[in-house]
Amino acid sequence: MAKHKLEFKKVTTNSLLEMKEHSQKISMLTSYDYSLAKIVDAAGIDVILVGDSASNVMAGHISTLPITLDHMIYHAQSVIKAVERALVVVDLPFGSYQGNSKEALASAIRIMKEAGAHAIKMEGGEEILESVKRILSAGIPVMGHLGLTPQSIFKFGTYAVRAKEEAEAEKLMVDAQLLEEAGCFSIVLEKIPSALAENVSKTLHIPTIGIGAGNATDGQVLVLHDLLGITNEFNPRFLRRYMNLYDDIKSAVGKYIDDVRNIDFPNEQESY
Ligand code: KIV
Repeated sequence: MAKHKLEFKKVTTNSLLEMKEHSQKISMLTSYDYSLAKIVDAAGIDVILVGDSASNVMAGHISTLPITLDHMIYHAQSVIKAVERALVVVDLPFGSYQGNSKEALASAIRIMKEAGAHAIKMEGGEEILESVKRILSAGIPVMGHLGLTPQSIFKFGTYAVRAKEEAEAEKLMVDAQLLEEAGCFSIVLEKIPSALAENVSKTLHIPTIGIGAGNATDGQVLVLHDLLGITNEFNPRFLRRYMNLYDDIKSAVGKYIDDVRNIDFPNEQESY
């Protein structure tokens, strides 16, 4: 693993700002459960995102919309127990903050109080600004999320790259600045042109974390199950698979089934 200039025993929102100041890239991955979060944290990841992608990856839904606040709290509780070093950010799920800022604050408080999260993430810009400010005023750190915001997939109608047109790119830039001015500590930029992501990253003082946004952002995030190759039907251009666990697990399970059927497992050493 590459050595960093700045070392942190415990990563905080301030650490991320410091990393940006020192041009040190931020690594972020999703986790939804105790066992994998423990490995990801031990490997030295900077930020663990308990993403609402758990809706797809863990529950098999076709979008992130069905996952509830109770589900997110359950996943976050499991992850928090495993983590010693990383900053743990938890997604506010669809329907838990779009209604009004009072409801948004109540949802954020539940995540902080019941799961012990370190920060929350919300999708959107100007349209959710009042809620962002209210949550921040309660002392809860907020990470923004712009570009392809999966909770709006039925409005977009497609998972294609966002903000290719000038008007949408300009709105994204304005939204990013509004989120920074409001006090967000970081912003995820999802599936937008690299040049736009670079422009946003250079304009903002807070770090940007990209997914499908090129390498000029201040950090990168991927869904852990995609990186490990556990999911094998999702193949966007931005995804780098570091393993092919789908095939490895399938083959291991196949061998186990054969061993059971052939009365080869358990053997004498594995018996009492
Ligand atoms: O829920 C999630 O996994 C996310 C990342 C893709 C940024 O929001």
